[in-house]
Formats: sequence, C-alpha cells, structure tokens
Amino acid sequence: MSQKIQPPKGTRDFYPADMAIQNHIFGAWRRVCARFGFQEYEGPSFEHLEMYTGKSGDEIVGQLYNFTDKGGRDIALRPEMTPTLARLANQLGRNLRKPARWFSLPRLWRYEKQQRGRLREFFQLNMDILGSDNVSADAELIAAACRICEELGLKSGDVVARISSRRLISTLLDELGCTDKPPVYLALDRREKLPREDFVKGLGEAGLTEDGIRRLDALFDAKSLAEVTDLVSSDDAKAALAELETLFQLLAAHGVADWCKFDPTVVRGLAYYTGVVYELFDAGRSLRAIAGGGRYDDLLSKMGGERMPAVGFGMGDVVIAELLKDKGLLPTGIPGPDLWLVSVDGDEIRQAAVAAKLRAAGKEVGFAFGGGKLGKQMQAAQENGAKRAVFVGSDRVAADQVEVKDLATGEQTVSTVEALCL
Ligand code: HAM
Repeated sequence: MSQKIQPPKGTRDFYPADMAIQNHIFGAWRRVCARFGFQEYEGPSFEHLEMYTGKSGDEIVGQLYNFTDKGGRDIALRPEMTPTLARLANQLGRNLRKPARWFSLPRLWRYEKQQRGRLREFFQLNMDILGSDNVSADAELIAAACRICEELGLKSGDVVARISSRRLISTLLDELGCTDKPPVYLALDRREKLPREDFVKGLGEAGLTEDGIRRLDALFDAKSLAEVTDLVSSDDAKAALAELETLFQLLAAHGVADWCKFDPTVVRGLAYYTGVVYELFDAGRSLRAIAGGGRYDDLLSKMGGERMPAVGFGMGDVVIAELLKDKGLLPTGIPGPDLWLVSVDGDEIRQAAVAAKLRAAGKEVGFAFGGGKLGKQMQAAQENGAKRAVFVGSDRVAADQVEVKDLATGEQTVSTVEALCL
C-alpha cells in the first residue's frame, strides 16, 4: 500500500474549522482597515528575484524560495509585500493619489526553520501609507495595529507596541563613526539572541570602537525618551527625539497610549527602514512579534521611482492566532447555515423546492441527501453547525406550514415558508 502524502513542512491545511478561525482574523483586519479608510490592492505571488536582493536585507534574502523559470528568469515567491507595493506605486508615478492608504492580505513564503509562530507559508496583513512625511501617518498605523488587537478581543495589557526610531539610532551611529549601517541594524536586531562576543565583533567590523559600543548599550538600556536626551548631541538626533515625542502625543490622542511603549532596543531586521520603527509583542513575550513596521522613505527611489515617503506594517496570521488561542479568544466549531431542512415524509422534490425558495430569498439552507430517519437528519443538522431545523412535509403541509426548532434552545414554533423567507 502506498503511503499517504504529507503537506510540505511549514505549510498548513485549512479544514473548515481552521478557515473559520482564519476568516475571524481576516474579518477583523478588513473591518479595521475600512474604519481607517484604507483601500485594498494585490500583486503577483512571485516576482523577479532582484526585487529582494539588496533591498530587503540579508536575513530575508537567505530565506527566499527562488527558482529559475522555463524562460531562464530568476524568480522568487514573495517573502514580504513591501517591495511589490513599492513597484506598484512606482509604476503609477505621478498618477498615484497621495497620500495613498492601501492594505493587502498576501500569502507569503519564507524558508524558515519551522517553530511556534513561524512557518514557511503564512498570511500577512499589510497596511501602508505612501506619500506622507508627517509623523501623523506613523501614528495612524500604530493606532490601527492596536485597534486590530482590540477588535480581536485583546486588551492593552495583553499586547505592547514597542516603538523606537531608526533615525535616532542612525544619527547616533553617525556620531560614533559607523561606516556600514545595515549589518549593524541586523546585529542590533539580534542583540538578545547573539552571543555577546559575536555582537561586539560585528559592531567592531562596522567601525565602532569600544567606547562607541558602550554608548550604544547605554541607548539600549534607556527606559524613557528623557533618558535618551542626555545620550545624544547632534541636531539630527535631537530632531529624531522630538519626532518621537510628537508621536507619543499623537498616540495618546488616538486613545492607544496604554498599548504603546518607547523601547530603544527595537531596530527591525529589514534593511529599508529610515525612521520610526515598531514591533507589537504579547505582553508576556512568550511569542515572536505579532507585527512589525516603520517608515521607509528611500525604498521607492531605490527601486527606480521618485522619492516617496512611506510608512507601513505587516501583521502575520500565525502569531496572532497563537495568542488568541492562549487567551481563549478564538471561535470554536464551524459556522453552519441558519436553516437545516428535515424531510419528514422523504419527499425530496418538495424539500428541494422549499430550499430553492428560501435560498432565493437569501437564506442559508442545508439538508441531508436521501432523507432517512429523522434522528439521522437531526444529527446532520447539528454536525453541520445549523442554527434551526425546519421540518418539511409534516401533517401541516396542507396549511403550508412548517415546524421550526431552534437547535440551541430546543424551542419549537410553527411558521410558513413565506414567513421564513422574510
Ligand atoms: P516582518 O517583521 O518581516 O516585516 O514581518 C511582519 C510580521 O509577519 C511578523 O511580526 C510576524 O508576525 C509575521 N511573520 C514574518 N515571518 C513569518 C513566518 N515565517 N511565519 C509566520 N509569520 C511570520 C515585514 O514583512 C515588512 N514587509 C512589514 C512592512 C510593511 N513594513 C512596512 N510595510
């Protein structure tokens, strides 16, 4: 006997109960996007490999699913949506209505080691604003990310948006004589995971002295914006700090101050961020980041377009689902039709006609095929998640009536098909 084929590692099958969870999360994503005035877009699932090499950063490039197609082109399955969004915007050029508030729910692929919250295929909500330099745009997105968590039933104590600024770190790195920033950002992003010697060695290779590393450490240990003020001296760094102060005032005005915290250790692993950066974590830090994003003002011009300020974040479906499961906030069971027809006399022609009438009126209707015992039909109603059973063909037929049973309460009433259509 041949073996049953298993799905590829790091992928998921979505049975109806899994789809119910997925739709629950996607529903919250879409509702909040609509409330914030965002419009949906999509792109292809695969792109030219060069879209990612050199722009997304070494970490993501090492995780690409890439291949050469039959025409000899180097292709990669998209590991993130941001380069695709940049390409779309560049194609529109001056025809892009700015600021554009766009969202997408792409399926993404990264060749990662499979672990809790990390898969090789996942979905990710992307919300981005293109064409605004204003820190209000950064605030808008952080507020939206918090409101999504709230929409899913989470509270401010469950999730923390940790916020910092690449611009602040960049200006400090300038002060410290750093010659190559992208590898430093990656090392800083992994600071907690890397052995200390490797971390120090990496920073040394990028031109930082021991004193410089001590000053970076001091920045990372700062608990508030006020503490950072004493650590930086350049006008650029002071401007970056002032921007963060305004951001926190805006977040308070958005009503999400309780969800947000200044955290200088947030750097982000991706290469293209230039300004405010943030990551949302579960408060207990038992999971990897729920979401991450920031400002990336240079990416569009690096991809051949005009300079276009941009901000955005990505929120994966895997980590948020884990957190909702831990908190008991996921829907259980499968969503079934409102009505389940139970044929009392086995007249399937009549049953199909009643179903057609109800469906034409927009009602959700299911029934068992081939009639059978009432008990079996009722069991099918339960198993299919129906809310009410409608008994068709009882002795009330002459009066064009049907009996209706609420499957949750057991309450039984008499109605007509016409009344059920309303
Ligand atoms: P990212 O930090 O690479 O950012 O991903 C954002 C979120 O996607 C993560 O916090 C995590 O929830 C989820 N995620 C990432 N990799 C995986 C994985 N292998 N399995 C499950 N979930 C995963 C970006 O992708 C940026 N492009 C976001 C962005 C949009 N920045 C600006 N606009």
